[in-house]
Amino acid sequence: MFEIPTKEHDESRQGEAVLLEKDPKKSNGRKLYIESYGCQMNFSDSEIVASILLDKGFETTRDYKEADVVFINTCSIRENAEQRVRNRLKEFESAKAKNPGMVVGVLGCMAERLKSKFLEEEKLVDVVVGPDAYRDLPNLIEKVDEGSRAVNVLLSREETYADINPVRLNTNGVTAFISIMRGCDNMCSFCVVPFTRGRERSRDPQSIVREARDLFHAGYREVTLLGQNVDSYKYTAPVAEGEEPGPVVNFAALLEMVAGVDPLLRVRFSTSHPKDITDEVLYTMAKYENICKYIHLPVQSGNSRILKLMNRTYDREWYMERVDAIRRIIPDCGISTDIITGFCSETEAEHHDTLSMMDYVKYDFAYMFAYSERPGTLAAKRYADDIPEEIKKQRLTEVVDRQREHSLERLQTYVGKVHKVLIEGLSKRSDTDYCGRNDQNTMVVFPVDGRYRVGDYVQVYVDRCTSATLIGTIVD
Ligand code: SAH
Ligand code: SF4
Ligand code: F3S
Repeated sequence: MFEIPTKEHDESRQGEAVLLEKDPKKSNGRKLYIESYGCQMNFSDSEIVASILLDKGFETTRDYKEADVVFINTCSIRENAEQRVRNRLKEFESAKAKNPGMVVGVLGCMAERLKSKFLEEEKLVDVVVGPDAYRDLPNLIEKVDEGSRAVNVLLSREETYADINPVRLNTNGVTAFISIMRGCDNMCSFCVVPFTRGRERSRDPQSIVREARDLFHAGYREVTLLGQNVDSYKYTAPVAEGEEPGPVVNFAALLEMVAGVDPLLRVRFSTSHPKDITDEVLYTMAKYENICKYIHLPVQSGNSRILKLMNRTYDREWYMERVDAIRRIIPDCGISTDIITGFCSETEAEHHDTLSMMDYVKYDFAYMFAYSERPGTLAAKRYADDIPEEIKKQRLTEVVDRQREHSLERLQTYVGKVHKVLIEGLSKRSDTDYCGRNDQNTMVVFPVDGRYRVGDYVQVYVDRCTSATLIGTIVD
């Protein structure tokens, strides 16, 4: 509600499955509807789920009322994210009443968190499937067809779905996400993700490069490599007994491999953890023109005591040093962040440390949240959620207001310059304007020019801005 809505962590976004590419398989006459909430990882997982079911002959539909299987891929990150899912499930109830054969499934993080409790709490739900069990979906649907309710919430240490070619849903045909790892080993005390997504594991780099190459050949011009903590990406090829293990591929090496697919393929990534982002990654970014100069570096708090309670394993000084390194090695880099206000025991002075950190970095944008206690997390077990809701909200408002000033200030530095922009589509507000992003991930809007199409790179002279958008015209 106080969040500035954005593409990444806006759990209000809903995605209906629309089939855009995939060899037609022999149809089984059944229709799948899938809706996703939460982070980009979840949207990316829905593309894997769709791929698994399309292989079994399902077709997709945009209308849940006409679907045979309705899936909701859920998020548990904050309480309101879960509430939104429960409300949506209520809306599915009348559709199911009209079509009793309809299978309703809950996938993703909330399924993992609540497990079979879901079936007790929500009578409507037939299937509950955690993020590592999607290969089992056809089998689970079969069980429901036979009259049982089905649950698989097993987490895996190996599953990366590396061999599954995701079906691109709701795509603009230009930008796509590639999961490079799953799970998280960090145990930040406020966060439910390690419980819902399990242990961290990295995907085979060859399969990542193959996916990037296939996307490029299908006309895509930008890939975003996804992981909860991309800087700890680490892959060693499995070897037979007695053989020497091959070289370790770290994130810098992976970035280099993906950047090498084609100079016309832009590479982005998210999320970087301040404790792990290395100079090697920064130098790799500086070296390749097609690795976008933009880093999402969640700070969470600007105060070292709170960071310690959050178990973030860096302090204020460390974070500032990493920002200095970014500015030194990639002077034109855009930086964004995540901030939590009102974490357990946060004082007014500590909150001011967050504001002063914002003044220090001058983030391009930020995703800002009031702390929401999540059952089972370290913070829920160890610390009292003792900051009153009004104070959390008041601090959040201060943070949001400060960010609005900084976004405008940052965007103003882009005015009067020419930016390389990848055309992503027509602007939401007007179909006589194109939109696309510059290297720093800022949205740029400019009049349609018949010589250029979606997927082309153009040079745009920016002559003005709002706090979220740059406005300009194509120059030759
Ligand atoms: N892996 C990423 C974060 C993923 S969750 C990282 O380490 O930065 C996205 C964001 O949601 C987090 O950065 C945090 O700001 C916010 N968040 C997570 N748990 C939260 C909670 N319990 N209450 C409020 N915000 C939370
Ligand atoms: Fe959650 Fe921390 Fe892992 Fe991010 S790094 S997903 S905040 S535990
Ligand atoms: Fe939500 Fe799970 Fe992502 S909790 S933010 S969907 S990893």
